[in-house]
Amino acid sequence: MDEQSKLSLHHCCLILFSVLTISSTTAFDYGDALMKSLLYFESQRSGRLPYNQRVTWRDHSGLTDGLEQGVDLVGGYYDAGDHVKFGLPMAFTVTMLSWSVIEYRDQIGDAGELEHALEAIKWGTDYFIKAHASPNVLWAEVGDGDTDHYCWQRPEDMTTSRQAYKIDEKNPGSDLAGETAAAMAAASIVFKKTNPHYSHLLLHHAQELFEFGDKYRGKYDGSIGVVKSYYASVSGFMDELLWAALWLYEATDKEDYYLKYVINKAHCFGGIGWAISEFSWDVKYAGVQVLASMLLEKAKHGHEGHVLKQYRSKAEYYLCSCLNKNNATGDNVERTPGGLLYIRQWNNMQYVSTATFLLTVYSDFLRNSSQHLRCPTGTIDPEEILSFAKSQVDYILGSNPMNMSYLVGYGSKYPIRVHHRGASIVSYREKKGFIGCTQGYDNWYSRVEPNPNVLVGALVGGPDCRDNFMDQRDNYMQTEACTYNTAPLVGVFARLLPLEENLEVELVASY
Ligand SMILES: *[C@@H]1O[C@H](CO)[C@@H](O)[C@H](O)[C@H]1NC(C)=O
Ligand SMILES: *[C@@H]1O[C@H](CO)[C@@H](O)[C@H](O)[C@H]1NC(C)=O
Ligand SMILES: *[C@@H]1O[C@H](CO)[C@@H](O)[C@H](O)[C@H]1NC(C)=O
Repeated sequence: MDEQSKLSLHHCCLILFSVLTISSTTAFDYGDALMKSLLYFESQRSGRLPYNQRVTWRDHSGLTDGLEQGVDLVGGYYDAGDHVKFGLPMAFTVTMLSWSVIEYRDQIGDAGELEHALEAIKWGTDYFIKAHASPNVLWAEVGDGDTDHYCWQRPEDMTTSRQAYKIDEKNPGSDLAGETAAAMAAASIVFKKTNPHYSHLLLHHAQELFEFGDKYRGKYDGSIGVVKSYYASVSGFMDELLWAALWLYEATDKEDYYLKYVINKAHCFGGIGWAISEFSWDVKYAGVQVLASMLLEKAKHGHEGHVLKQYRSKAEYYLCSCLNKNNATGDNVERTPGGLLYIRQWNNMQYVSTATFLLTVYSDFLRNSSQHLRCPTGTIDPEEILSFAKSQVDYILGSNPMNMSYLVGYGSKYPIRVHHRGASIVSYREKKGFIGCTQGYDNWYSRVEPNPNVLVGALVGGPDCRDNFMDQRDNYMQTEACTYNTAPLVGVFARLLPLEENLEVELVASY
């Protein structure tokens, strides 16, 4: 080989190498991730599965839910790796799926996923319509954590208690009523054009539920004891009532009553008092503050504007804390050495996914209104915010010290022992023979082999504060996935899609 060709070979390899490096570390297939994230909701379906069910290792389950209580509660979602239908996280999941579609409908449509996103929302709202049996009655939960966790079974074989629990006038639950109202109001916006009758029905339920929750005040875990060790409402119900009012304001084409509620209750409900660094199925304040901030541009009179500004300052505290731009270390969200936002050990990814969503939406809002985010340690432009959100998503998809995608089924390395009853036991479609309560523990839970079914699109709890992850079925703090982990990502993946295309263009150009 002469010097000249050695040189050109060397040159060529360098280019090839740098292209490969870029594509393996930064170019993620957000379209694939979006498609997979929506599949996950089909794995979590309870009830009678439709003819077009794509996740074929699942079958019908929970077909007598509500029967003991004389109410039809068939349908809805299992929240995570078990088979309780918990109303509060289910409603938050549907609110975040709906918000995703409201902001990024066009992008989801361009990816060919709009129908699937609408189905995922409707699977939840159809259930809420059943659960909201009369104006002041809402069924809150089917099954209970204690008896459910005693067994390791496929949903199709379930032998555990399916007792249903409700809230009503004497047993209030303003947090649950508020979140379900928020979910139905947000979904009514989603269906406004394509299914106006359904949209109207959802809005009617949302308004009734809000009224019920506002009139009969109380925490739902005070009324329903069995939910306490699983989904206790630590932040109380005031955040959910503000959240519901904001969604109803949007869904009713800006009925003044709901905005007045958000303004008048801002102080006494903690909306403008509580600066907080997490956004979750329990704590909605950051979501409330971001939504309220985006109304500021259109504020009519002085007092309204003044209160909305206070909401905005709390929203900015949250966003700046995620961006590590608040003054004191204690006012910023911690990060792992690999750069992942870190709130707490158990299912940390839920907070990453919700933060990523709020950052993404707010960056669009700032860009649209030609504004910047002013944080105590500096001003940040919308591109920088979006790019930080992207860094979190890329961490999730594999750009992390474990080189692992925490979105199951995405890429070549992902968790294969997800803490999930259905996924960890042979598919009912393949082997119909009954698998009993403890048989599942003996024969499937304790196996070291990978799950027989891949829970595609599930976002697991994720790594610890040092980026370490142990892929073990009994390590539920890290390997369990929840519907509310994946829901906000639906919008974020869609938002990042055009970036993926730009990157491809850049790569071609540099070639
Ligand atoms: C941050 O620090 C600056 C300068 O020391 C100070 O003026 C400002 O009030 C601080 N902001 C907060 C939110 O603590
Ligand atoms: C930003 O503007 C686009 C285009 O007008 C709009 O579709 C989107 O809803 C806006 N987003 C926000 C968060 O303001
Ligand atoms: C992840 O990939 C990097 C680069 O290829 C490698 O140096 C590192 O050892 C890998 N880490 C693990 C845990 O596989």
